[in-house]
Amino acid sequence: MKTIPFTRAARMIARGTWSFCTDRPLVVSFELTHSCTADCQHCDKGGIKPEPPDLLRAADYRRLRAQLKPMAVQLSGGEPLLRKDLEDIVRAVKEPSGLPYTILVTNGRLFTEEKYLALRALGVNQFSISLDFPDERHDDFRRSPGLYAHLAKLVPTLAARGHDDVALNTAITRENLPALRDIYERAKQWGVNISYSAYTPLRTHSMDHYIRSVEDLNLLRRTLYELVTLKARNGRIANSPWTLSGIHDFFLHGTIPGCQAGRRFLVVTPSGGLRACSMFDQTYTSQKEILKKWVPANQCGECYVSIRSYLDASFWTLLKDNVTSRVFSRNGRANQC
Ligand SMILES: C[S@@+](CC[C@H](N)C(=O)[O-])C[C@H]1O[C@@H](n2cnc3c(N)ncnc32)[C@H](O)[C@@H]1O
Repeated sequence: MKTIPFTRAARMIARGTWSFCTDRPLVVSFELTHSCTADCQHCDKGGIKPEPPDLLRAADYRRLRAQLKPMAVQLSGGEPLLRKDLEDIVRAVKEPSGLPYTILVTNGRLFTEEKYLALRALGVNQFSISLDFPDERHDDFRRSPGLYAHLAKLVPTLAARGHDDVALNTAITRENLPALRDIYERAKQWGVNISYSAYTPLRTHSMDHYIRSVEDLNLLRRTLYELVTLKARNGRIANSPWTLSGIHDFFLHGTIPGCQAGRRFLVVTPSGGLRACSMFDQTYTSQKEILKKWVPANQCGECYVSIRSYLDASFWTLLKDNVTSRVFSRNGRANQC
């Protein structure tokens, strides 16, 4: 798992503690565009769309970062690499301290070694590349011919640079359930980490990709157990055992309580509207408004996507799973800056 230098981790703990105690978001997801180079079967953001006239610019992201002061940001979408001003946006979201911890979430279609190096130099801390299948089935699912071959070449090349900041990102669906173990093997072969999350029908309003049958639920339970064992043996899996078992509970019950949307995390749309989460259209002008109007009424348990599952936990579990466990290397010594 990617380790975090000691002083950066200390800053993250301080910022995270402050956010936790003051009900500010620990993580903000900036949806830089709702346009995408892919057209995934499980997603509502597929296809290239016209740019909205009020699209946020780098200066807007600087203002929002200063206002919301998150410990971490996700640059997502749509496909964030479609933004020609992405480097300016990264400069704008980074503080001189190195915070917030910055994660680029991408399908990788437009990603190259040059872009990786440029974005890394500007302060992107983690590159999270989506992979739904360990072979060309990925192209069919994402309706993006040649995407798998591109990733199969690029990801090991980036991993070979040895920075340990590239990870795969797999949303579990009925279709890729039998391939989850092979996707893990692909991550291992390519030399990168992997994070699993659960398909939610909230984006597509379709249960087609949801895991429901007794046989599939049994396979899911066995596979997740296997992944927990592999994590203990080899690392490489970013999820805590707690979130992996949550994925099973989510599919089993069709819902999972405890969503902290709007409080622990929130989403900024490409035009600057604030949303508690990306699944709901209600847009607000401040987090205060979300805390007052949306959070008290939130009964939703219909997703277990990464941002939600990682932030459901108590303060101490979050600290243990997401920060302190990454500060120490395998031999137990703290990593230096
Ligand atoms: C919305 S995409 C945006 C970033 C980028 N275009 C990408 O594909 O990674 C972010 C992540 O959401 C996941 N995703 C899309 N639709 C989903 C759904 N219905 N349930 C769970 N995850 C979903 C994708 O697999 C992807 O890993």
